[in-house]
Amino acid sequence: MYLQTFQNQNPSTINETLKLRDELMKSGLILELSEKLKATQIKEEKVEFGQKLQGLKADLIKTSDDWIKDLQLKAEKNEKIDYFDPTFVSKTTKLQPKRIHPVTQVIDELVAIYKQMGFTVADGPLVETQWYNFTALNIPGYHPARGMQDTFFLDEIDENGENLVLRTQTSDVQIRYMENHKPPIRIIVPGIVYRNEDIDATHDMQFHQMEGLVVDKNISVANLKFFLEQTFKKFFMDENVQIRLRPSYFPFVSPGYEVDIQCPFCHGDGCRVCKTTGWIECVGTGLVHPNVLKNCGIDPNEYQGLAFGFGVDRLAQMKLGISGLSQFYNSNLSFLEG
Ligand code: PHE
Repeated sequence: MYLQTFQNQNPSTINETLKLRDELMKSGLILELSEKLKATQIKEEKVEFGQKLQGLKADLIKTSDDWIKDLQLKAEKNEKIDYFDPTFVSKTTKLQPKRIHPVTQVIDELVAIYKQMGFTVADGPLVETQWYNFTALNIPGYHPARGMQDTFFLDEIDENGENLVLRTQTSDVQIRYMENHKPPIRIIVPGIVYRNEDIDATHDMQFHQMEGLVVDKNISVANLKFFLEQTFKKFFMDENVQIRLRPSYFPFVSPGYEVDIQCPFCHGDGCRVCKTTGWIECVGTGLVHPNVLKNCGIDPNEYQGLAFGFGVDRLAQMKLGISGLSQFYNSNLSFLEG
């Protein structure tokens, strides 16, 4: 019977509700009945008025408690809308199709290309020991090539007393994989690497590399050229893509090469992207140095290896025609969604 009174007065806070309940406890029917109860001497009336009074009071308490619960529920619902809930989609928001990050798209494409050629994907840690990042790759402590890769050293020290590093190249995974797998081996390793570099349009202190390693019998530079040609023909969807090998030096391969690909924008005529040379340098490669195979317990007289490594971000930049590498990482949604 009190519901009507609460609805009419509509108390909007818990305090107002309790105040209204106190007033009702001392007025109206309750007041009337408790005065009658006090006044009567008749036993039957005492019982009747007493029971009615208890019923009214219980009804009032229940109505006010329900009212308070309702108020609390409403408050909670309102609060929830204020929380940041990334899964919340309001009815007025238009659903946007979400995109895979451009660099991830390019990695996925490359992985698909290599899978067709029988490669599997391998992975390794980003925080690496100097043994895996350098020494086992034929780059001893005094070797100037350690300086070529501006390294981030960590304070933590490994069991050989050497500082850990943020890996500067995915070549570390070559070693980790060869330690645990017997030839024939055919892997690719997509992953992040770190270099203590000055940032510009084509350099960043963090970027993605993709490493390839093939270990088998009778591996030669011809195999290496084949895999790289296939990679770029398929990646740029152009059977006429040309590559060229220039002798170069990486301590973990011999012979070593730098691979240029014919500029996909001007097809060799020379343009802004290839700095008028007609070629873009993009891969380090070579036949795995016998010392590296030995470091992993593989007999170089029986097996040979080829390895290559390239920057995925640069390839993505070329394929998607993106001017600066930083665009990949500065969270500009209109770029990432575009
Ligand atoms: N790891 C080398 C780099 O980061 C690239 C490379 C990989 C060279 C494999 C030769 C063979 O520069």
